[in-house]
Amino acid sequence: MKKVSFAEFGGPEVLRLIDAEEPHAGPGRIRVAVRAAGVNPVDWRLREGQVLGAHPIVLPSGVGLDAAGVVDEVGEGVEGVAVGDRVFGEGVSTYAEFAVLSAWARMPGGLSFEEAAGYPSVMETAVRIIGEVGVRPGQTLLVSGASGGVGSAVLQIARDRGITVIGTAGAGNQDYLRGLGALATTYKEGWAGRVRGLGRVDAALDLAGSGVIPALVELTGDPRRVVSIADLDAPKFGVRFSGVAGSVPVALAQAADLISRGRLHIPVEKSYPLTEAAAAHIDSQAGHTRGRRVIVI
Ligand SMILES: NC(=O)c1ccc[n+]([C@@H]2O[C@H](COP(=O)([O-])OP(=O)(O)OC[C@H]3O[C@@H](n4cnc5c(N)ncnc54)[C@H](OP(=O)(O)O)[C@@H]3O)[C@@H](O)[C@H]2O)c1
Repeated sequence: MKKVSFAEFGGPEVLRLIDAEEPHAGPGRIRVAVRAAGVNPVDWRLREGQVLGAHPIVLPSGVGLDAAGVVDEVGEGVEGVAVGDRVFGEGVSTYAEFAVLSAWARMPGGLSFEEAAGYPSVMETAVRIIGEVGVRPGQTLLVSGASGGVGSAVLQIARDRGITVIGTAGAGNQDYLRGLGALATTYKEGWAGRVRGLGRVDAALDLAGSGVIPALVELTGDPRRVVSIADLDAPKFGVRFSGVAGSVPVALAQAADLISRGRLHIPVEKSYPLTEAAAAHIDSQAGHTRGRRVIVI
């Protein structure tokens, strides 16, 4: 089968499309014929040799965590899913024609593989950090960096739960945030004052790692009301850095429920063939994805 792989850490040029042995579903796993694989910043962070503490890597390594596809092998002990089912979920080396998944759910009817591949990781992260920051219905959540994959998920989960969101994003994404039900402002100079003008802030999430933690603490009045997924310096300010994944099946069930009620839609900004995985990484690393980027197989 064809698979994207890298044999040394480095820039996008280390990615190669290779012929590889097909993987097989061991106990508790399924294998899918991959139709689409989500592109996440962690994919290029791992390719560069970052975050190896949390994700040890043996070289050569495949790329990709998220996938949507058709089940074609069911491992020992797995129930409730059959060959031929359309699923989305998380696994390893998903930029490939076949991949083994460790967590999955059936895709809601009417959802394309391309869109479905964008949900698993960002929904896991969004559900986790909304829980960790402890924001409740009727309160206001500030989201710094709200137009990317995680932000798009956070905004729509919050809207469904009756949480008001104030989001920051680039000038070209203000209407996008408003379309997801948020109050919006840019992250340019003076942003904290503009946020104050939009309302009181009960809790805040830093999704961009753009050095805003002290301002988020000031706006919420309490470092325990702030969570970051992108700034490793957060603990210096008494703020939690969230890096340990929560339950993927719970997040996928929430995604399926929201999608089937018409309450969740994250657009795919651009799709790339397997041969253009390096271009997908270059575009993701530029840091201005609206919604998601996806590899299609
Ligand atoms: N710790 C964890 O568990 C965890 C989990 C998932 C992701 N992450 C990390 O969280 C970050 C976000 O992930 P993602 O998947 O949402 O990324 P993404 O889809 O690439 O989104 C990046 C977003 O950042 C925004 N942005 C760029 N510069 C900004 C600034 N100065 N201030 C505010 N926003 C800015 C962009 O908005 P505009 O285009 O509007 O400028 C863009 O929408 C990444 O660094 C990722 O590695 C961590």
